[in-house]
Amino acid sequence: MTTFIQNTDIPNYSTPFYYYNLNLLEKTLKTAQQEAKKHNFHIHYALKANNNPEILSMIQSFGIGADCVSGNEITTAIAHDFPANKIFFAGVGKTDKEIQTAIKNNIFCFNVESLQELEVLNNWAQEFQTNIRVALRINPNIDAKTHKFISTGKAENKFGIPDEKIDQAIEIIENSSSINLIGLHFHIGSQILDLEIYKILCETANYWNNYFLQKNHKLKILNLGGGLGIDYQNPEKNSIPDFKAFFQVFAQHLKTLPQQEVHFELGRSLVGQCGNLITKVLYIKEGLQKNFAIIDAGMTDLIRPALYQAQHKIKILTPKKTTDKINYEIVGPICESADSFSQSTHLPKLKRGDYLMINSVGAYGEVMASQYNMRDKIKAFTSFSKH
Ligand code: LLP
Repeated sequence: MTTFIQNTDIPNYSTPFYYYNLNLLEKTLKTAQQEAKKHNFHIHYALKANNNPEILSMIQSFGIGADCVSGNEITTAIAHDFPANKIFFAGVGKTDKEIQTAIKNNIFCFNVESLQELEVLNNWAQEFQTNIRVALRINPNIDAKTHKFISTGKAENKFGIPDEKIDQAIEIIENSSSINLIGLHFHIGSQILDLEIYKILCETANYWNNYFLQKNHKLKILNLGGGLGIDYQNPEKNSIPDFKAFFQVFAQHLKTLPQQEVHFELGRSLVGQCGNLITKVLYIKEGLQKNFAIIDAGMTDLIRPALYQAQHKIKILTPKKTTDKINYEIVGPICESADSFSQSTHLPKLKRGDYLMINSVGAYGEVMASQYNMRDKIKAFTSFSKH
């Protein structure tokens, strides 16, 4: 078994638990930074994907910036030594308290999502007698061809400022005393696997970059967001996403102005494959139509299958003599029929006490956990070991 955790390790831990492979994380970060640097691109890590302290520290050590969507994410990023001048603050609903936190910390840039937010930001900046830097998040009306819950760039989505309002946004900025417009921001969705979509994004970004230039706003930065997907079907074969191809699309299709910086906010592609959820079979139940393997991890520990019908690869860790496989629906203990990890998984005959590993949970796994059914919050372990 090529996995980094062995069955013999597990009795030391009580299941279920998240297990983060820091070797893989390190390799992933190295690749991402190398590929980005070839084009002089800047990466910011979207803390929302995973805020495990060891993961944050490692990401920070690569000189990567931060992309935050709450005041708590800003303070967490700063506590983990992400420099304030590498922090973006995004989100459609920034509260007054969060705006104050961001201003006090003198973060790099607010990604602004509405006209009213611009006015509120200007008022707060005046209150603090300071200037703030903003990038306008434009809604480019692009279909990212991903699950509709994680699609953010279409006109019907709540994100970004629509085309028709851009002139008004420019007017507000020009009349505001404390806002310094430094760039444009786009983020069209998550788990995007078709790189052609990013070509379309580049064309839209080029259009707006030029539009602002015509209006005498030479922008310092273009922020193209995140969204690069990972291979949930083959996590071992494709453990590191194709950052080279991803960045090349932008290098080829984005028309930057002299000295203009290009920024990205990557979450899933940096941390998704380094995390696994280790769980134990509690019961085998032969239903009328199918066999259920009931495990001790539930939708409380990984909500992605229930929420987005995501399919995470499930492997058996307990050694088995037979190679004959049986079809199981792998379900959790929560009182919801949506608490199912996989409708049909072929595994050797399971028994109570066998260990399973649910792959690719490094992004949007632990951070989306809940304590529904009054379940305990489960622990996370990290490892550098190679087996
Ligand atoms: N920038 C912005 C403005 C975002 O909203 C997001 C993610 C990112 C960057 C990072 O995107 P990534 O590179 O991770 O795709 N819980 C969902 C994913 C939600 C993504 C939210 N926004 C899931 O489990 O699939």
